[in-house]
Amino acid sequence: MAKVIGGVGTSHVPAIGAAVDGGRTQEPYWKPVFDGMQAARDWIARTKPDVCIVVYNDHASCFSLALTPTFALGVAERYQPHDEGYGPRPVPVVQGAPELAWHLAESLILDEFDITVVSEMTVDHGLTVPLSVLFGQPTSWPCQVIPLCVNVIQYPPPTGRRCLKLGQAIRKAIEAYPADVRVAVIGTGGLSHQLQGERAGLINAEFDNAWLDDFVAAPEQVAQKDHLELLREAGSEGLECVMWLVMRGALQAEVDVVHRFYHVPASNTAYGLLVLEDVDPPLHTTT
Ligand code: DHB
Ligand code: FE
Repeated sequence: MAKVIGGVGTSHVPAIGAAVDGGRTQEPYWKPVFDGMQAARDWIARTKPDVCIVVYNDHASCFSLALTPTFALGVAERYQPHDEGYGPRPVPVVQGAPELAWHLAESLILDEFDITVVSEMTVDHGLTVPLSVLFGQPTSWPCQVIPLCVNVIQYPPPTGRRCLKLGQAIRKAIEAYPADVRVAVIGTGGLSHQLQGERAGLINAEFDNAWLDDFVAAPEQVAQKDHLELLREAGSEGLECVMWLVMRGALQAEVDVVHRFYHVPASNTAYGLLVLEDVDPPLHTTT
């Protein structure tokens, strides 16, 4: 049977991708950020998921305001990195996992989540930067990827509660999949940042750290935070953090924190990173 082996939450700051691509990870500005990622890289190298479900948002790259799906699930064989204005990132093509993705689509829709099924799309920094965070610069990504794209750029985005419930339904779907596939769920985006308007440059470390504490210990409470509170406290783009709740919902209520890291500055964003495992991981149970 397939199983969820753990979850990762990470910001998806595009400048992190540019630092990797440009060989600048050891520069004084970036070194502390990349040093803080090492334990997550060690975890994923050790646990070796077959598939990562990457929960991310498209930043008006592949989609635009002409078409804004709330939850879009990729069922394609592969995904090319999007050209966001400087040419596509020089990263490997992302290999999909169509069979599991179609199973997820069916299970989620029968579970009453109205998922948009996407057979063809490009992926932007929201998806490729988290892969670089976890895997560095390989010649091919070491796992298959199922993109789950969430609208957080056009009002109204989904609630935190909906994201948490979607994660729970994803776990149920994975556990009903007969093949022996080991799946990690990666939530991306946040933490506090605002890229536009009068409050551009906003960072709220106090809010972020309390949010991380509660995200681990009381996710239902974090999921209750409404859009206005997130907007006010974490900034307009800080709202991206609702995507982490999909990952949290895919894990047990009680989790172990394998790694936690928080660093400011990382471009315009408070960089946050969490690696979580179920307290009672299926990996360690005897069958
Ligand atoms: C930045 C962060 C983001 O999440 C994003 O999508 C674009 C830019 C930044 O920190 O610059
Ligand atoms: Fe973003």
